[in-house]
Order: sequence, then structure tokens, then C-alpha cells
Amino acid sequence: MEDCTFIIFGVTGNLAKNKLLPALYHLEQAGRLSNTMKIVGFGRRDWTDIQWHNMVTEQLEGQIRGGVNTQVLERFLQRLHFINGNWQENDTFTTLKLEIENSQIYPQNFIFYFAIRPSDYRRVIKNLVAQDLHKEEHGKRRLVIEKPFGHDLESSEVLNTLLHRYYCEEQIYRIDHYLGKGMVQNILVFRFANTLLEPLWNRNYIDHVQITHAETRGLSGRAYYYDEAGELRDMIQSHLLQVLALVAMEAPANLDADALRDEKVKVLRSIRKIKANMVNMHAFRAQYARGAVAGEVVRGYLEEEGVAKNSTTESFAALKLYIDNWRWKGVPFYLRSGKCLAEKSSMISIRFKQPPQHLFRDTPIEQLKPNWILLKIQPGECVRMEMQVKQSGLEMKTLTTQLDASSCSMGELTIDAYEALLLDAIDGDPSLFLRYDEVAWAWKIVDPIMKCWMAEQDYIHTYPAGSWGPEISSRLFDKNDQYWRDTMD
Ligand code: BG6
Repeated sequence: MEDCTFIIFGVTGNLAKNKLLPALYHLEQAGRLSNTMKIVGFGRRDWTDIQWHNMVTEQLEGQIRGGVNTQVLERFLQRLHFINGNWQENDTFTTLKLEIENSQIYPQNFIFYFAIRPSDYRRVIKNLVAQDLHKEEHGKRRLVIEKPFGHDLESSEVLNTLLHRYYCEEQIYRIDHYLGKGMVQNILVFRFANTLLEPLWNRNYIDHVQITHAETRGLSGRAYYYDEAGELRDMIQSHLLQVLALVAMEAPANLDADALRDEKVKVLRSIRKIKANMVNMHAFRAQYARGAVAGEVVRGYLEEEGVAKNSTTESFAALKLYIDNWRWKGVPFYLRSGKCLAEKSSMISIRFKQPPQHLFRDTPIEQLKPNWILLKIQPGECVRMEMQVKQSGLEMKTLTTQLDASSCSMGELTIDAYEALLLDAIDGDPSLFLRYDEVAWAWKIVDPIMKCWMAEQDYIHTYPAGSWGPEISSRLFDKNDQYWRDTMD
């Protein structure tokens, strides 16, 4: 494990509170942080270390698996130091520099974590550079940058050019926390460690693939960001397209970061471009209206605080994509993601084709059900295959049986994606972070849709909060027998 000083910009925000600090605590508990590593909160509040410690102690409550352990907490808090400053102001970076470079307590490898609004990235990068905090003269200097990386293709290129003016690629960690999720990493193992799947994993046997991310949460106080972003940018451009790439890619030459990313990029660049006049056939958007989630009344998107009253930002988006390559030609990939839906559930559902001959025509089996492979990402990881077997009894009737991999019973006791990724950033392993060309290709896929939606601001479909989204989103399906697979059952 490498020694470092981990500096968080945006330390009082949701991400730091709900993800970063709990993940760092869990790494502390697992003994994965070096003894002298320090964590610095850099923020506007006029806090002492003790005040920050009290705040963190309160925030960790309820977020730690098995509850907070007093000894671990004590060890963890000793690493935490608060430096007062405004990351938007150049001057306060002088204080930061002086403190972390001159005080003996701080290890000289610095990791700067951008848990701030994307629109502030530029200013923070400039302020770091003005203080020479990008130069690796006395240790490593890494940046961890949250998605969305840019707002569209053009702005992501501008951001990337700015970064590369001062940093080399090895210093930049573009995080997509979905890549740290256990089941997302399992896609590679499932596909490439099981000989039996490979011959079936193509257009000859697979009817279509669905990738769904459903949340019951709404904006959670993030309207300032979300109303400008929308679900397509927030979830599909990044997380869901990464999952698609892993499901569809060829076996990489090895597990090196670049070998893996090369294969993902090949998939992304093979995705058929959606022309402006085809957007409505390939993409669907909607916004939640007043409804109820888990028995609680939820107000509609337009009633949320911070949302523009005439906003047509989508809280639900669905896409149909084709990958024009040898393996996948003609197989639709349906991607769907939404907020305030009926359940929290993320999964990959792969539907196989019907058997070529209906042998059972003259039996009580009227309609054979197709095989599915379901990879549940969350909550609870699970791999399930659905097969048809004969029901016991005198009649020829079928029953869908489910072959579950053992992980299905592991419940929710899985590590959070941020734990794995923060450890990789600390240890300098970029495999689960994005290379810029992956980001750029993903923008190229969604850019035409965003442009069309921007231009059409008069109307957006709605769905009641707590539902599975508008039924009319099924218009994306190619065939009548295709339908959204909402749950594992
Ligand atoms: C984030 C999005 O990247 O992922 C959020 O910005 C979304 O809007 C979140 O809620 C979902 O991730 P998870 O891990 O909570 O399913």
C-alpha cells in the first residue's frame, strides 16, 4: 500500500459524506491504509480538526457495516485534518501548499479528489497548477475526477486538453464508480472464466440485452447539478455504457489497464450512430410526476426545489443501441435508467432466442419461454440462469427453473464500489478508471440525442413516481415479444 496525503475538495458535500468518508473508514477497518496516510478536508468552513472529527463521527453513524467501532474510529480520526480555504480562490491554495508540503506529518504523494461540481473543475485545476501542485518533483501528484467528465463531447475535449497541458495521463484518474461494483467486475470473470458461455455469447443465440438501473431516490437535494444534467448524462453516458462495453467486448489480451480499455473502446466505437431523424426510434425520455414511493408521497420533478419550473430535463431515459460488429450485428441493446421508480434495482438481463423448432406444438405447452441470464448488480449480487424443465406429473407442462450462482445468497453484505476504487487510486492502479477515448466515444453516442432533446423543449412524457416509468417506453422494442424485465422474478 502506498503512503499518501488524500485531499478532498468538496468535503462537506453529499459525495464525501455518503461515499468517500465511509469508504475510507472501511479501508481503515480492513487495515488497507498505510499507518502514516493522511486525509485532508479542504473547505470553506472555519473548522478545527476536532470540529471536523465531530462532524465525520456523526456522519458515519448508520453508514458503516456492522456499526462504527470505537478503536477503528479513533485511528481513522487521527488521520483527518481540516484546512480552511476556498477552492475557488487562488490565494487559499498558497495556504494548502504551505501546509501539506512543509508540515512533516503529510506524506509527499498527493491525491486530489474532486468531489465538487463539474463546472468548478477548471478553476481548481488552474489553482493547483498556479501553485505547482501538479509537478511530481517530490512525490506523486494524482487527480481523481468524478463524472460527468464534461457536459458533452466538446466540453469534455476542452477539459481533457486543459488537463493534458499540465498532467500526464498516468496522473489522471477519471472515476466511474460503477466499475468498482462487485457484479460489474464479475462480468469479466463470468464471461471469460466459463468456457460454456463463450459459444453462446453472440448474435446467433442472444435475442437482446437489457441493462437497467432503477432508483427509488429522487434528486436528493442535487437539483443544482441534476436539472442541467438529466438521466442520460448522469447515468447512461457513463455507467451504463461502461456496463454495455464489458458485456459486449472481446477477451482482452491480458488484464492490463490498457488491454482492457482497448477492448471497451472497440465496442463503443462500433455502436451505430443515431442520426438526428432517428432519435425518436432509439431514445425515450420522461419525467416523474407526483406519486408514491414505498408508501410515501413524493412530489413531482417540477415541484422539486431548485428545478426550473418549465424544465424538460429527463429523470428517466431509455435507449436502443446496435453494435455493428461481427459478434453483435442485429442484436439490440436496451438501456434504461430512472429516478423515483418502483424499486432500487440494477441488473443486466440477457434474453436468448427461442429454440429453432417448436417440438411441443401438440402438447399443453403453448408458448415456450426463452432462456434468460440475469446478472443482478444491486441490491445484492446475483447470477441467475432461467431454464425450462418439465413439471412433474402426467402432463407435458413446463416450469421455469432458476439456477442461481452462490453469490445470490450473500445478500447486501458487499463492499461499496468506492472502497475498491479509492484503494486503486492510492495504489496507482488505473485499470478501473476511464481513459479519455472511452469517455469521448461515450459522448459521441449520446450527443445527437442530447442535441435533439435540447431542441425539443415543448413536451416530455411523465410517469407517476413509484412506477416503472411510462409504458410507452416499450415502443423502443424491435419485436412484440420483447418487454422490460423489471425484476429477477
Ligand atoms: C451517480 C449519479 O453517479 O450514481 C447519481 O450521479 C446516481 O445520480 C448514482 O444516483 C447511482 O449509483 P449507486 O451506486 O447509488 O447505484
